[in-house]
Amino acid sequence: MLDVAVIIASTREGGFGTTVGQWFLEQTARRADLNVDVIALGRTALPPLQPARSGDTGDEARALAARVGAADGFVVITPEYNHGYPAALKLAIDSVRHEWAAKPVGFVSYGGRSGGLRAVEQLRLVFAELHVVSLRDTVSFHQTDAHFDAAGRPVEPDGVNGAAKVMLDQLTWWATTLREGRAARPYVR
Ligand SMILES: Cc1cc2nc3c(=O)[nH]c(=O)nc-3n(C[C@H](O)[C@H](O)[C@H](O)COP(=O)(O)O)c2cc1C
Repeated sequence: MLDVAVIIASTREGGFGTTVGQWFLEQTARRADLNVDVIALGRTALPPLQPARSGDTGDEARALAARVGAADGFVVITPEYNHGYPAALKLAIDSVRHEWAAKPVGFVSYGGRSGGLRAVEQLRLVFAELHVVSLRDTVSFHQTDAHFDAAGRPVEPDGVNGAAKVMLDQLTWWATTLREGRAARPYVR
């Protein structure tokens, strides 16, 4: 089994993060090899960054670091806000340090015209700084409300379910390979 943390970046109550998240968790539930931990940033209460040198990052950041550390890989579900990704996601990323390293991240993005693709491009740069491998293939929804019906189901499930499968196949390959690598020899920074 692989442990995968699915990070839902939107904190807006009633926003599309819940809808997209529910659909994506149905995709992961189809796979017997994935054990999923859902980290919904709307349900965390991370404080502004604490002084790192004191060693006391606070309970919320410690709890998040433990969940990130327990994961073999990550999927970030993110909307696009003003050509970027949500501030809450940056705080979460910055609140954890070495626990991210030598693991893969995949992206599910959504938004208006851009489908969140610009948010994802920025996230690739940020995750590279943390020694995280970002997957080439992503899932994106442009004009999100047009892609889900009133019940929160995708209007054209075949295409998006297929895209999720490709991304999860890549995530599984990288997560397995890097887990074996981390076990065989310490990662170098
Ligand atoms: C503050 C803000 C800025 C936004 N900026 C963009 C943008 O730059 N590009 C885009 O495609 N959509 C943009 N949108 C549209 C959102 O991506 C879209 O409404 C999405 O569903 C928001 O996700 P949420 O409902 O989970 O918060 C923006 C929405 C908000 C609230």
